[in-house]
Amino acid sequence: MKIAVLAGDGIGPEITGQAERILLALRSDGLKLELEPGLLGGCAVDASGEPFPEITRKLVKEADAVLLGAVGGPKYDGLPREKRPEQGLLAIRKELNLFANLRPAILYPELASVSTLKPEIVSGLDILIVRELTGDIYFGRPRGIERRDGQRVGFNTMIYTEAEISRIAHVAFQAARKRKGGLCSVDKMNVLECTQLWRDVVTETAKEYPDVNLSHMLVDNAAMQLVRNPRQFDVIVTGNMFGDILSDEASMLTGSIGMLPSASLDDQNKGLYEPIHGSAPDIAGKDMANPLATILSVAMMLRYSFAQEEAALRIEHAVRKVLAQGFRTNDIYEPGMKKVGTIEMGNAVLANL
Ligand code: IPM
Ligand code: MG
Repeated sequence: MKIAVLAGDGIGPEITGQAERILLALRSDGLKLELEPGLLGGCAVDASGEPFPEITRKLVKEADAVLLGAVGGPKYDGLPREKRPEQGLLAIRKELNLFANLRPAILYPELASVSTLKPEIVSGLDILIVRELTGDIYFGRPRGIERRDGQRVGFNTMIYTEAEISRIAHVAFQAARKRKGGLCSVDKMNVLECTQLWRDVVTETAKEYPDVNLSHMLVDNAAMQLVRNPRQFDVIVTGNMFGDILSDEASMLTGSIGMLPSASLDDQNKGLYEPIHGSAPDIAGKDMANPLATILSVAMMLRYSFAQEEAALRIEHAVRKVLAQGFRTNDIYEPGMKKVGTIEMGNAVLANL
């Protein structure tokens, strides 16, 4: 198992550092894996002028899976759009055809009181957001800022093909089948033709999954329902932009965005694994970041790309134990708990592994 490790910027190196320790511990237990570091995002811009340099492209193409920290930071905000760290992330997703982004939002019982929502609303929460990741307004053309009739006009194109919708729908139906069998497709068909097609294709795909209970919801209502009664959801499937927004919202139900892992998969289960949070430049280098989302991303990697279910469960159980033992990074801290930094949190997970 060849794993490319792209630590990225900000807290990226700190959190991937802890995740690597977990992988190395599993290697000493007999898992055959190799870690290969590479540059993506702002650190790559610093080193080569490009957010996704050729050498990184080669590395990730050859790897079986990619572990990513986070990219971006204020230092790069002034760069032209094509040189921004985020472009590196979008380019790697597109290059590897990682169209299926799985973002589970699970509330660990120990963190019920950390959520900004009432414990009785969020306890037992277990949602999977399936976000399409290589299409939509993120990649649609034409796009740009132009001068027209003496003023500037900004424009983007929201576009989905039937094939793009049906392949992500299949991923979502299959995921729902393995869970509680509920799938809610989120769109804005009352206004946008692109998402009318989305609803039509998802509905047609449903014929192949009579055992899955499909519903549809408009995105504004979905945003409201996620905070009103989030436990009504099992699997949510939606496009790239709505999925970006709803997954950040869902993360807060679980107490902290620092807890949420993700997998971005192609049609062969090759994948890129990353926490859903960003590079958090404000706490970078301070040994404060929560490494659990990245460590849980490694569990997803072992499960989805390498079919190592047992190793994945070992990591997930270790994380649960660490929470039960009261270890908390700053983002999930409550009085009475043991406040730890990034490295100590890594130590605690290793000890339980
Ligand atoms: C995410 C992030 C990215 C996105 C950014 C950093 C480009 O917000 O992975 O959710 O919008 O997809
Ligand atoms: Mg996002």
